[in-house]
Amino acid sequence: MGEGIADYTKFTVDLRRHMWMAGVEKDLRRLIWQIATTGKYISAKIHESNRKMVGVKNIYGDDQLALDKISDQILQNKLANSGFVLEYASEEQDSVIKVGKGDEKYFITADPLDGSSLVDTNLAIGTIIGIHRESIFSTGRHSMVAAMYITYGPLITMIYSAGKGSHEFVLDREGEYVLSEEDIKLKDKGSIYSLGGLRRDWTEGHLKYVQYLDAEGYKLRYSGGFVPDINQILLKRGGIFTYPGLKDSPKGKLRLLFELQPMAFICEQAGGLATDGVHDILSLQVEKLDQRCPVYIGSRFEVEKAKEYLSGN
Ligand code: F6P
Repeated sequence: MGEGIADYTKFTVDLRRHMWMAGVEKDLRRLIWQIATTGKYISAKIHESNRKMVGVKNIYGDDQLALDKISDQILQNKLANSGFVLEYASEEQDSVIKVGKGDEKYFITADPLDGSSLVDTNLAIGTIIGIHRESIFSTGRHSMVAAMYITYGPLITMIYSAGKGSHEFVLDREGEYVLSEEDIKLKDKGSIYSLGGLRRDWTEGHLKYVQYLDAEGYKLRYSGGFVPDINQILLKRGGIFTYPGLKDSPKGKLRLLFELQPMAFICEQAGGLATDGVHDILSLQVEKLDQRCPVYIGSRFEVEKAKEYLSGN
């Protein structure tokens, strides 16, 4: 570094500053920041749990709440006190919870701890959030204004998009989310694939699609956690994640509101695509909270190719 030239690598941009510089609207900035901070509390609970997750008893014999339920409570409490959220819909609850007083402007969907069954194996897990400006019973394209997810892995990272690109932050030792990857952009074609569902349950079209990817030399990357699997595609700048419709469950496994819409929003903002094999995930009408649908999400080329195979062309 020459004399007199500042070493900009020594300067960090924290989440609040980034959103401000990116022109994200004030209330949305504050909301995203508040949600990001819940990641610290959820991560503390994961550590405290010592990798146990389901309704276990503590050393005194008392029932302990499962980690995903605790994460849900942390989020709900935070959002109820945020002043910005009218309704909260969580993968952990049967109905939409009104958490606001009446004039708040945002509607939140949450998968508080996705992949929580992986806690005992010490694989990465995550929190997925959709932020809507209108009722969630619409299409994502119409109602969503932002999305984010937090990955609890060797590092805690967070990706958000408020419709101006997708950006990654790392939680540093001081407890600050610091910008690590700005405006992530997927290549048109990647080289990894992440394939959900049992091979014997795949439809003919999907099987042929995977055979095509095999022949092209795609490398398998599947952890069983939606958050780290999508995160890998984003950070490696391409590839495809699928959880297809299966022979006896044509809607697949993953949930439209809690898992697919937020990831579709972030992926599209990174220049990728997300479809159910025919339609964009964000154009699908939400009818009910636990609605599931097949998903093909990632680089444009692979998602378009899936469409071809699924339509039999
Ligand atoms: O929906 C929960 C989830 O654990 C996702 O995080 C993940 O992508 C998927 O299920 C894994 O499903 P399977 O165990 O069938 O591979």
